[in-house]
Amino acid sequence: MKPIREQFIERYGSEPAVCSYAPGRLEILGNHTDYNEGFVLSCAVSQCTHFAMSPVEGSVCTICEHGKDSTLDLNDIATPIKGDWRNYIKGLLMDLNRRGIKYGAFNAVLDSEVPLSAGMSSSAALEMAFAFALKTIYGIELPLPDWARVGQAVENKFLGLNSGLLDQFSSLFGRKDSFILCDFRTVEVLKNVPMPAGYVFVVVNSMVKHNLVDSAYNARRVSCENATAAIKKSHPEIKTLRDVDSAMLESCKNDMDHVDYLRALHVVGEDERVFKAVDLLSKDDVKGFGELLFQSHESSRVNFENSCPELDRIIELAHTIPGCLGARLSGGGFGGISIHLVESDKAAEYADRIKAAYKSQTGIDAATFICSIGDGAGIE
Ligand code: GLA
Repeated sequence: MKPIREQFIERYGSEPAVCSYAPGRLEILGNHTDYNEGFVLSCAVSQCTHFAMSPVEGSVCTICEHGKDSTLDLNDIATPIKGDWRNYIKGLLMDLNRRGIKYGAFNAVLDSEVPLSAGMSSSAALEMAFAFALKTIYGIELPLPDWARVGQAVENKFLGLNSGLLDQFSSLFGRKDSFILCDFRTVEVLKNVPMPAGYVFVVVNSMVKHNLVDSAYNARRVSCENATAAIKKSHPEIKTLRDVDSAMLESCKNDMDHVDYLRALHVVGEDERVFKAVDLLSKDDVKGFGELLFQSHESSRVNFENSCPELDRIIELAHTIPGCLGARLSGGGFGGISIHLVESDKAAEYADRIKAAYKSQTGIDAATFICSIGDGAGIE
């Protein structure tokens, strides 16, 4: 990628006032726990979305991407247009309006290394890179967790996906070569957990995106709320599934719909696996950590039902190819990516082998890459 500053100078003939970046993320463990105020181990990847920006007079903003200009009028941001990436910017500006925060127009250049629609949160990377550029040129003061909330509002209020805070939060708080242990009740990083030396994550994109992903996602969230409400009847002290452990859930199993029970079983299990993982990693038990990844996928497959045949095929293959200690779907699910914990010196061969096997079994060309863990968003 050509440096974003140079791209800006080429397009507008002057230096940008600011250059910002924000990374994509990987969810390592803790699937669908964020909106249950639970725990996630995640990381930022080294691929980022970049913005270069300067303020301009008036209300018309120009955003140039790969030599192509798009415009946006600040007086016309209230309505999303289906499938238009500018929705992420409009939605973010709308939430700033709601908060009474003042800003003005801008000229910008945008470029991204984060694969689109792959489950690595390219949208959160776009939102947070944009937020960092805008806050710098217009001097907007908001605590970092609130910027994550502004990004979440884009998805929740503007685009109708009732997602949690994981994607934006990881893009902001990621730490190079570490996982971050996130608490989504207090909305803070509890701890940085170093990535075990000698291993990498290989990302395998199933290249499948099932229809109705958003409605399936929202339905999972409703199930979690139903299960919580049922448990509350006998345990009024609980607020969300974060407060529930396996024993409490089992004792209330018959008080709720069976599907809601299965969804809660996944979430409660994920919260528990996150802490087991942190413990195992502190003892350098990488094998045990890998097992937890396989268990997480299995729970997605049978309990949360947010996997799909293609992802299941990839995880079956992971069990058979040497060098892999654990693998699971990562992110919302229903297609998208899987992550594979692999011995570093076998990673390239592993990626080739899984790609070839997946192709021969499904006819699909998976995208694979060996991931490095980067820092969160910032200003260049
Ligand atoms: C998506 C959402 C996140 C989180 C994950 C599942 O990435 O955007 O908020 O819920 O799915 O853990």
